Amino acid sequence: MPAIVLVGAQWGDEGKGKATDLLADRVRWVVRYQGGNNAGHTVVLPDGQDYALHLIPSGILTPGITNVIGNGVVIDPGVLLDELSGLEERGVDTDRLLISADAHLIMPYHVAIDKVTERYLGAKRIGTTGRGIGPCYQDKIARVGVRVQDLLDEKILRQKVEAALEFKNQVLVKVYNRKGLDVDEVTDTVLEQGERFAHRIADTRLELNRALERGETVLLEGSQGTLLDVDHGTYPFVTSSNPTSGGASAGSGIGPGRISTVLGIVKAYTTRVGSGPFPTELLDESGEDLRKSGGEFGVTTGRSRRTGWFDAVIGRYAARVNGITDYFLTKLDVLSGLERIPVCVAYEVDGFRTEDMPMTQTEVHHAVPIYEELPGWAEDISGCRSFADLPANARAYVERLEELMGARISAIGVGPGREQTIVRHEFA
Ligand code: GDP
Ligand code: IMO
Ligand code: MG
Repeated sequence: MPAIVLVGAQWGDEGKGKATDLLADRVRWVVRYQGGNNAGHTVVLPDGQDYALHLIPSGILTPGITNVIGNGVVIDPGVLLDELSGLEERGVDTDRLLISADAHLIMPYHVAIDKVTERYLGAKRIGTTGRGIGPCYQDKIARVGVRVQDLLDEKILRQKVEAALEFKNQVLVKVYNRKGLDVDEVTDTVLEQGERFAHRIADTRLELNRALERGETVLLEGSQGTLLDVDHGTYPFVTSSNPTSGGASAGSGIGPGRISTVLGIVKAYTTRVGSGPFPTELLDESGEDLRKSGGEFGVTTGRSRRTGWFDAVIGRYAARVNGITDYFLTKLDVLSGLERIPVCVAYEVDGFRTEDMPMTQTEVHHAVPIYEELPGWAEDISGCRSFADLPANARAYVERLEELMGARISAIGVGPGREQTIVRHEFA
């Protein structure tokens, strides 16, 4: 039985939380495979209650689902415990959450280093979420990271923290003029935190493969988006993991052959948080209007999201690098009321037209969007529940995006609520 991967097709915040929630009643497992609490996934339940999830898979809100924080995720133990107690206080049953023994831990020194390096970079900063994501993945790749399983062995944990701080404290004190951290204080804090979730630690790759063998469906929930991928995104203005579908196998231990559907979540326009190139960005009033009507403010940091028109070059690129089988187009309702809607169909780069993502980062910075204008619609579409209910121009907009992206649009979001969705084709 299949595994389904859900990926963001743009720069994050496409509506992945809502899409996971929508699919949750059809699957038995929901797995996060990369990233950490840099993510902010919003889910609005049918009773109107909304939840912002950062580290815990969005499937936690659906009873009967087993949720997994996979080996590819980086975990801040304090954030994990806070998020769990926040959910429990609101009556959410958190019993079904497993944590990979191989996931890496975000330590206090990772958070400290993330913040000081960004400050040091000044105008050249990436605009990270300041949650220690990059420094934690650096340690993982450098093979000096601390993993969840180390919480089960105090001696090993202390040795690892000691070895890490020997170097990190030099950097914090001598390079950045900050206070160093104390080995015992750091170790004792994470040990105490670890005790509170030790019962959740599991060999999740074994559990997930057994579930697939039993015929249960697994949903792999990506965070961030294709253009924030460290390999396929707008490097260096990216996150330090692989949100693209290839990352789903590495970050969960599920073989690629198990994956039957790759669902790309794409917003009907474009947003980005943090620094880096954004060809269709609107710096005028229409950008401000999109920000307001779409409520484009970060779930994690509260920062204003940069806004722009839909970019089909990106849509095509995401379809290719992820092998997207179906698109879920979100926030179509936000475009209601516009007379004409520009859609970027290609870029002009240094005098040449290209329909594809340019090869070099310099070219991406130079890319000038070539727009096609589509007629808008005045009607409020938030109550539409079938494709036929949509005004003709909204249908034409969807069909044109589908043609430009080269993958079918199987679902359309017309509001934040679970039920505010039009399903055009069955895809899972
Ligand atoms: P994620 O990080 O991809 O899960 O997305 P975020 O939760 O950060 O941002 C998406 C925002 O759009 C959230 O506030 C959602 O509630 C909201 N949203 C999702 N789908 C739709 C939709 O179809 N229409 C509208 N109006 N809002 C939506
Ligand atoms: P979700 O899952 C939007 C951005 C940051 C910054 C860059 C690197 O909600 O879509 P990091 O802290 O990861 O080292 O920051 O990536 N970023 C996101 N932007 N949505 C997210 O997550 C993001 N997670 C990270 O703003 O530009
Ligand atoms: Mg988000």
